[in-house]
Amino acid sequence: MAKVLVVTSGKGGVGKTTSTAALGAALAQGGQSVVVVDFDVGLRNLDLVMGAERRVVFDLINVVQGVAKLPQALIRDKRLENLWLLPASQTRDKDALTDEGVGRVIAELRSRFDWILCDSPAGIERGATLAMRFADEAVIVTNPEVSSVRDSDRIIGMLDSKTVRAERGERVEKHVLITRYDPARAARGEMLNIDDILEILATPLIGIIPESQDVLKASNVGTPVTLNNAESAPARAYIDAARRLMGEEVAMVVPAERKGFMNRLLGRRAA
Ligand SMILES: Nc1ncnc2c1ncn2[C@@H]1O[C@H](COP(=O)(O)OP(=O)(O)O)[C@@H](O)[C@H]1O
Ligand SMILES: [Mg+2]
Repeated sequence: MAKVLVVTSGKGGVGKTTSTAALGAALAQGGQSVVVVDFDVGLRNLDLVMGAERRVVFDLINVVQGVAKLPQALIRDKRLENLWLLPASQTRDKDALTDEGVGRVIAELRSRFDWILCDSPAGIERGATLAMRFADEAVIVTNPEVSSVRDSDRIIGMLDSKTVRAERGERVEKHVLITRYDPARAARGEMLNIDDILEILATPLIGIIPESQDVLKASNVGTPVTLNNAESAPARAYIDAARRLMGEEVAMVVPAERKGFMNRLLGRRAA
């Protein structure tokens, strides 16, 4: 049965779009049919991270408004044939998305894909509530810092009250994904530690993604990191998280500091 998963956070710049692309690609690499849907109307970043910006013709709003049919707006990934993108519009009015219209599109996507990953805009306003509205599961993207964890806590409250599932008395299955985890800063006590985050959020952990240049490199060439450099530490962490989403038991790896011998000798931090 199809699963609708929202990638959400409250705070901006924590790694939602990066994670939507990487988890979407990892699920597709695992044989699932996947569509990633950009709900960030106005910003439209997911098509860039997926390397599809020049192929956008129609978008989510066009489909909601009946200007285009769903198949006209869906863009198939060039690398993986079972990975698709439904882009957002950059210019149009944010109020163009209605509950009813989004519900119709999600229902149609459910009949075509195993996984529907919804990339949420930042904030706790309408855009974010629409992105989570029809979700069965949620990945709450959190950075190890106080403001991010606090916003994640608010989003968890919304997942438990403003979703269709919550209104029916059912629950949205929630997972915390810690991203941009910097082991060196964690060791110096400059970041919240993982146990504290999980205690505050009281939600199970689906993965820990290290802060890494590999993420930026992949983003710059428009390729999800799991496809661009599958052996890199962030790619392996995303692939493990996707396997957990598919129900596999995978041991959790806490990113460790990679200090070179010279750096250790000089007491310098690895870049
Ligand atoms: N693990 C990571 N390591 C380094 N940079 C990252 C990582 N995750 C995300 N970023 C960078 O952080 C910025 C914000 O990420 P993005 O996915 O756009 O966040 P959001 O969608 O939550 O606003 C981007 O420049 C992205 O490349
Ligand atoms: Mg984003």
